[in-house]
Amino acid sequence: MQRIEPVIYKTKMLQTRSFISTLKESPENAESISHRLMLRANMVRMLVAGVYSYMPLGFKVLSKIENIIRQEMNSVGSQELLLPSLQPIELWQKTGRDELLGETMIRFTDRRGRKLCLGPTHEEVVTELAANFVKSYRDLPFVLYQIQTKFRDEVRPRFGIVRSCEFIMKDAYSFDRDIKGLVEIYEKMRLAYEKIFRRCGLDFVSVKADSGVIGGDVSHEFMVPAESGEDVIFKCKICNEVKSAAEVQVEDCPHCKQDMEKVNTLEIGHIFQLGEKYSKALGVKFLDEEGKQQTVQMGCYGIGVSRLISAIIEQNHDKDGIIWPAQVAPYQVVVVPVNVSDKEIFEKACDIHKTLEEAGIECLLDDRDERAGVKFKDADLLGFPLRITVGNKWTNEKKLELMERRSKGSRDIGAGQALEEVRRCLQTGDCG
Ligand SMILES: Nc1ncnc2c1ncn2[C@@H]1O[C@H](COP(=O)(O)OP(=O)(O)OP(=O)(O)O)[C@@H](O)[C@H]1O
Ligand SMILES: [Mg+2]
Ligand SMILES: [Zn+2]
Repeated sequence: MQRIEPVIYKTKMLQTRSFISTLKESPENAESISHRLMLRANMVRMLVAGVYSYMPLGFKVLSKIENIIRQEMNSVGSQELLLPSLQPIELWQKTGRDELLGETMIRFTDRRGRKLCLGPTHEEVVTELAANFVKSYRDLPFVLYQIQTKFRDEVRPRFGIVRSCEFIMKDAYSFDRDIKGLVEIYEKMRLAYEKIFRRCGLDFVSVKADSGVIGGDVSHEFMVPAESGEDVIFKCKICNEVKSAAEVQVEDCPHCKQDMEKVNTLEIGHIFQLGEKYSKALGVKFLDEEGKQQTVQMGCYGIGVSRLISAIIEQNHDKDGIIWPAQVAPYQVVVVPVNVSDKEIFEKACDIHKTLEEAGIECLLDDRDERAGVKFKDADLLGFPLRITVGNKWTNEKKLELMERRSKGSRDIGAGQALEEVRRCLQTGDCG
């Protein structure tokens, strides 16, 4: 039978033209669940070890996460900018981090003989920028942030985009006149981080952390419990108190005096009260009301934006594949005509797809000439929150099947109800 071309959908989201492909088998040398599923769903593709391309599906998820981060960062009054990846080594020498970062930093000399690196983080660049801007107490406080590619020659790139040599980070930097101001913005950021991770569908904890090479006095890490996580935290089985490895010497809960359990975690974010570490080295000073010169108090706030994709999958999957939380799903709905050669079925599927898209719901039409079983398996693997099937029930009873990915609960609906039902299910996460 001849395939029916969905003429009006030439530019719409057809699965046959969307660069989506799936692998049945788990690829070799993928060591974690999220890495395996991301490769099977063709979300990312390795170029060389530790370096990945984001395929359209992976990029869609990345963009959704970035937008959640932008909204929450903007809502606490921070301003987005974009700093360069190419940075002079000289600048790093001023803070002493040139040596500290050592081989993690990717360095080279350009044709002018300038010694440069590819930025592994941006404290130096942003602090130097602030030094040229801040003059008076009136210029403070402010917070700048960016979402940008970082480069780190990791000793052991692993688990796909969890630990890669080129990755996307959101990094924010706060500048304040005193410690009180710094602590205030730090607390605001902490709450913003909690909102971001909740909106990404993550179950996370925050623990007091070691400040490492970034430095400073107080710092917190945001951790996602995950089997493949390279960090550990300690959790009390009785009161759920959590402690970082840095905090725990005897492995007893401070409240219950009971053994704490080791939990593997992925670090998704890290915030620091830097104090004067960078502002002193790079001279960010201001005149206070009395005309006295003071040093700016800084904080910095990082999120592993690309690593978040892996963290979300680590926590949201089942034996059949990924289960996207609606807010970060690449498409909210996949419409599956069971037989694209059946004119009535295919046209109805196109029709439903159009209705949803026009209502602003991101929707994919699985227009492939494949068996229904193959399409269902792929939809499960790719993890779209909702699936609408147009099949024999449409031919016989004018009913569509609406299925929810997480619970696999489904029910029959009329075509006229599709939009309203999809909206309701996306909101409540339940359509059974
Ligand atoms: N190599 C990497 N690949 C992907 N994401 C990373 C990588 N290194 C760090 N991140 C992410 O960027 C965030 C902020 O960077 P930061 O410098 O605080 O990380 P880090 O302490 O070096 O992390 P890790 O201990 O995992 O190496 C981290 O919380 C993490 O989520
Ligand atoms: Mg590191
Ligand atoms: Zn306890």
